[in-house]
Amino acid sequence: MARVTLADVNKIYGTGTRAVHAVQDLDLTINDGEFVALLGPSGCGKTSTLRMIVGLESVTSGRIRFDGQDVTHLEPQQRNVAMAFETYALYPNFTIEENLTFPLEVQGVPPKERRRRAHQVAEMLRITPVLKEKPPGLSGGQQQRVSLGRALIREPAVFILDEVMSHLDAHLKFQMLFDLKRLHRDLKRTMIYVTHDQVEALALADRIAVMSNAKLQQVGGRAALYNRPANAFVADFIGEPPTNFFTARPLQENGSLTMQVDNSTLRFQLSSEAQAAVNATGGERFIVGLRPQNLTLDPNRGDPNRGRLKAAIAINEYLGERSILTLESGKARFRALVPPETAAGQRDIIDLFYDPTRVMIFDAETEDLIV
Ligand SMILES: Nc1ncnc2c1ncn2[C@@H]1O[C@H](COP(=O)(O)OP(=O)(O)OP(=O)(O)O)[C@@H](O)[C@H]1O
Ligand SMILES: [Mg+2]
Repeated sequence: MARVTLADVNKIYGTGTRAVHAVQDLDLTINDGEFVALLGPSGCGKTSTLRMIVGLESVTSGRIRFDGQDVTHLEPQQRNVAMAFETYALYPNFTIEENLTFPLEVQGVPPKERRRRAHQVAEMLRITPVLKEKPPGLSGGQQQRVSLGRALIREPAVFILDEVMSHLDAHLKFQMLFDLKRLHRDLKRTMIYVTHDQVEALALADRIAVMSNAKLQQVGGRAALYNRPANAFVADFIGEPPTNFFTARPLQENGSLTMQVDNSTLRFQLSSEAQAAVNATGGERFIVGLRPQNLTLDPNRGDPNRGRLKAAIAINEYLGERSILTLESGKARFRALVPPETAAGQRDIIDLFYDPTRVMIFDAETEDLIV
């Protein structure tokens, strides 16, 4: 079918002082049948990357290959790839069935076969009941699925989706997530899905490629991104609420190394592996990261290796199934995710516990993960 390879791909729009380097030195392979999400904040280069894969945008430098074949300069229709966009752009005067079959008509597929495929795709996307209707009579979610169907019906080897759920409410989004996942399972096509929503990316993809500032930051499964983020950007972007960060300096104490947080009494214990890694750098400034999920109020006395922090509660935010505590120690501010019944209130001083192996250390300059 199709493995998509991007080798050292760059996209620069415009020239001279107005030049925008939208995609920088991108190396990425999407395996045959794989579902990969391209995740990153607005303007990081996701759509530009997709448009180069599809052939709607020229490549400034680098190579794009489908199954080893160089397609860098091929026209979109020569690439066997279809794209569904955020804006569904359906023909308002055509019926849904006509909207679906239009790409096949262009390809010269006979009417009977067009009809067969339209009904097959409609079944899959659960839009059979509206096939004879026209787009203005459909809900946003149905229109979005017709738009998907129009890309699917061409039976491309590579299927590309750009923010296709951005106009949907939470309920429809959930349904579409489910539909897309099932679609991928049934069709076993190579799929590339673009979003700035980590929930979508985590729910759908086999692997997630995180982009920021035109550059690929990390590619991996959800556990790798969550537990071993390549840098502070990924640690911040993946996970909700985001990772707590502290600037800190190493402190030698009774033969072990801890991290003393700037302008605060917070001090983090480190695993022996982390201590060795920090020592090996010889550095004096670091960024410490710890997820709000990895702080607990449970002293867990059975574990002698638990780290302990003391901090004052600034806010206790009750969110139903959980609460978020915003805590302060000196100038340091951070958050902890705790059970909803936590009664502690503003300005209470509390003890928090953590597993030192969960403490992440980043280089203060490059922000890359050290350990
Ligand atoms: N046709 C263009 N001409 C000039 N600059 C462009 C063009 N298209 C995109 N850009 C710029 O390239 C950068 C990347 O844009 P791109 O659309 O790829 O980002 P994105 O990750 O898809 O963002 P979003 O999440 O907002 O859709 C941005 O700075 C954008 O302004
Ligand atoms: Mg975009």
